[in-house]
Amino acid sequence: MFAFNFNKIAMPIFYGKVALNTFLKSVKKQNTSIGFVPTMGALHQGHLSLMQQSLKENQYTVVSIFVNPTQFNNPEDLSKYPRTLEQDTEKINDLDPEIIIYAPSVEDIYEGNVNAESFDFDGLENQMEGKFRPGHFDGVGTIVKRLFEIVQPNNAYFGEKDFQQLQIVKKMTLKNNLAVTIVGCPIHREANGLAMSSRNERLTAQQREEASLISQTIFKTKELFKNKSPAAIKEWVAEVFEKNPTFDLEYFEIADEETLNPCIDPEKDKKYRAFIAVFVNNIRLIDTISLK
Ligand code: PAF
Repeated sequence: MFAFNFNKIAMPIFYGKVALNTFLKSVKKQNTSIGFVPTMGALHQGHLSLMQQSLKENQYTVVSIFVNPTQFNNPEDLSKYPRTLEQDTEKINDLDPEIIIYAPSVEDIYEGNVNAESFDFDGLENQMEGKFRPGHFDGVGTIVKRLFEIVQPNNAYFGEKDFQQLQIVKKMTLKNNLAVTIVGCPIHREANGLAMSSRNERLTAQQREEASLISQTIFKTKELFKNKSPAAIKEWVAEVFEKNPTFDLEYFEIADEETLNPCIDPEKDKKYRAFIAVFVNNIRLIDTISLK
């Protein structure tokens, strides 16, 4: 599958790790830096901004598009996850046709053994997403480590919407002495404030509008955090969503940015964040905001 823009010829898509690796070895010289943006496709402006940052900071940018089965604890979520390779390729080529796309099969990654490795992320995996999506972060750790081995990037770019994932990837990189710099990039929001996500594709236009309640609520918690206790704020958030039958609140948490442990009594020199996961008609949306 090829797409062209006016000046540059699009890179072919790599479907296999051996071909990708051979190509990257052929272009990688001393002082050449490779930036990497791992994705599960269904690309939106948030993903494109990660690619833009990588393009600015590296000679080569690799984007992977792979819906990783081992990080889904819910089979329905996996089967319904949008798969839009053709449109994704067009978006990438429109941004810069020299971006290298790696779109492997499950076999290319897992070689017949579709199982996650087991990781110890020093407790980061036990909070929030980890509590509600058992095994999710083992799946994320497995795929990110494998992709890093294949691409061998100098820099890898992750969105802050998945802040817990970002912290976990940093921990995994540190614990495994991987020579990759993990770069966290700001959340992109739709005009109504809804955090951009591939899952937004599954919302109707009305749900997409209504889902702005999620960001409005966490924006408000930033104000409340100045003079209300975390317990009182949690109570308020629960009431907001109880009143609204479109939503099913899974969790709202205020946590330490470093350890991700819940905040009971805020300490002056620590940084805290609000984290939320909400179902809108069975579609699970998450968001986060720094409360500093
Ligand atoms: O954030 C995502 O899209 C995925 O968790 C990632 C990092 C691409 C791993 O599959």
